[in-house]
Amino acid sequence: MVVLLAGSLGLPLAPAMAQNAQARKTANVDLQARLKEVALDPKLSASVVKTGRQVASFCAHCHGEGGNSAISSVPNLAGQNPDYLIEQLRQFSDGRRRNEFMEGMIKAMTSDEKVGIVMFYAGEKVAHKPAANAALAARGREYYHKVCWQCHGSDGRGNEHFARIAGQQPDYLRLSLKQYKQGTGARVNPIMANFTKQMSDNDIEAIVVYVSSME
Ligand code: HEC
Ligand code: HEC
Repeated sequence: MVVLLAGSLGLPLAPAMAQNAQARKTANVDLQARLKEVALDPKLSASVVKTGRQVASFCAHCHGEGGNSAISSVPNLAGQNPDYLIEQLRQFSDGRRRNEFMEGMIKAMTSDEKVGIVMFYAGEKVAHKPAANAALAARGREYYHKVCWQCHGSDGRGNEHFARIAGQQPDYLRLSLKQYKQGTGARVNPIMANFTKQMSDNDIEAIVVYVSSME
């Protein structure tokens, strides 16, 4: 479906991605180590983030300007933790996380494009959206602060190990929680499988409303 969307929009490959067509053999690069190396070197970091910003103009078709998505089923990337994002890019490229469009596109990116893009998005701010339903949000808040905060933080912003989920798009949150819960193989993670197994559809709706409204 997303492939059809991209095709029907007639999306061109970002210029930076097209120019680097010769340098695609990045599968063996340790992305986490490269991210650390780049982050510690201000000059290198400025040039890698510049590349990331160029590539982001392509991602913006779906993920929105600065990573604030305007499509509820497409995640925000703004304010997301770089280590988490790098890990997701790796999961798309080795098939642990399945999405046909994202898998294809990530194979076309060099390691420095990946590092640059996650550093670029980490520096962007998430736009706040108030909760649509105050009663559901209150239920979601209660659930969240019993369970989810332990890893995603009491403010929902995660840390270097865990994803930021505060302000995430509602349809995307619902889809992700159901993917973990149903265990169809689209998204596999034993920790999240365990936590979502205990959630009813009503719990999921309440969490979606609350988490998407967190700042
Ligand atoms: C045609 C639309 C489209 C374009 C263009 C696109 N994405 Fe995505 N992206 C998606 C969708 C849809 C998902 C959710 C996939 C899923 O979970 O099934 C996603 C998920 C992601 C995720 C996982 C986020 C998370 O919170 O786990 C990352 C990282 C990502 N995209 C990066 C990128 C980058 C970088 C680019 C540009 C090089 C890009 N995307 C371009 C549609 C798109
Ligand atoms: C013990 C730690 C832990 C707890 C508690 C936990 N999570 Fe997670 N969560 C994770 C990890 C690890 C990931 C990354 C999994 C992956 O790579 O797919 C994750 C990923 C997610 C994602 C996907 C983020 C994205 O951008 O795609 C969502 C949504 C999420 N968790 C929601 C929740 C909710 C809601 C709760 C409470 C019911 C919760 N989590 C409790 C560890 C935890």
